[in-house]
Amino acid sequence: RSILKKNSSSSSSLLRRSYSSESAPPRKVVVLGAAGGIGQPLSLLMKLNPLVSSLSLYDIAGTPGVAADVSHINTRSEVVGYMGEENLGKALEGADVVIIPAGVPRKPGMTRDDLFNINAGIVKGLCTAIAKYCPHALVNMISNPVNSTVPIASEVFKKAGTYDEKRLFGVTTLDVVRAKTFYAGKAKVPVAGVNVPVVGGHAGITILPLFSQATPTANSLSSEEITALTKRTQDGGTEVVEAKAGKGSATLSMAYAGALFADACLKGLNGVPDVVECSFVQSNVTELPFFASKVRLGKNGVEEVLGLGSLSDFEKQGLEALLPELKSSIEKGIKFANQN
Ligand code: NAD
Ligand code: LMR
Repeated sequence: RSILKKNSSSSSSLLRRSYSSESAPPRKVVVLGAAGGIGQPLSLLMKLNPLVSSLSLYDIAGTPGVAADVSHINTRSEVVGYMGEENLGKALEGADVVIIPAGVPRKPGMTRDDLFNINAGIVKGLCTAIAKYCPHALVNMISNPVNSTVPIASEVFKKAGTYDEKRLFGVTTLDVVRAKTFYAGKAKVPVAGVNVPVVGGHAGITILPLFSQATPTANSLSSEEITALTKRTQDGGTEVVEAKAGKGSATLSMAYAGALFADACLKGLNGVPDVVECSFVQSNVTELPFFASKVRLGKNGVEEVLGLGSLSDFEKQGLEALLPELKSSIEKGIKFANQN
């Protein structure tokens, strides 16, 4: 009898879940670079998201296989794979959210800026198509160097007359994911309840975790421990690049982070209140035109860019130190977009 009871309650909760997902508004999500190291697990995670009704997977190669595979999963969304530039327009049409993990990853010894020469052109091409085929979509930029690819996207959209600063996001969620994990480990608190804002940009010292604002608070952490946690968060990407020893950079944790951020965007679009995530967006928080900080997401994308809150002296120094590098990466992106 107990088995029967268990079954009936779990099937009713399944029914409820399926009813609520079916009643969510239709949303099309596009993944550009869907056959890549990030693209494949990200496509899987987006296929599992009940807020997605249409999942469009685009890459220059390999998408038919990824799309056929993912499409067999019995969740809400219809999956279509598109391969080759001639199909990019069809892939993008009607998109609500476009996630961009297209481009080359780092190898040991490289900085993210070393990817600029290849990825800047890729991002420019993809954003030109976004401006043409889905100018109102929210764009989640994952391709590195994010500190430059987001400004490139903004310039492409400006030139096309479609730029809306509320709809362009550099995805820095992986920095937050790492900061939460590393903090929970050191502070010995359950990771599920941890929150740590990470501000600035997405490369080396431009990544500034605000452990003074971490919750739950851990007064026991020494300043040496905070310095070490900060450095580990800033070097988290390099830690993975070195461990992968030439086989690329973070893909699985990035897919998780990218899926979290896209889910937040979808919730915002659907009118869920108080959806707040850190992201690299157009900003007045500092003198720089783009900056990562907490952002409230809403029906039109960015609803509010939140300020930094109070910083420790260590964080104030980190902020001063990161501004010149972040400025020059932003300017490099803007210059590229206007020259080429
Ligand atoms: P990958 O090489 O495994 O995959 C990249 C994919 O992009 C490939 O499938 C490739 O065919 C595709 N691609 C190349 N040119 C394209 C184009 N013009 N249109 C569509 N697709 C195209 O690389 P990866 O490990 O998935 O990393 C992708 C990017 O994400 C890199 O630039 C990496 O540095 C970046 N990244 C960012 C973060 C972040 O936190 N923002 C984290 C990890 C990786
Ligand atoms: C990361 O933070 O893991 C990514 O930006 C990839 C990289 O090159 O480090």
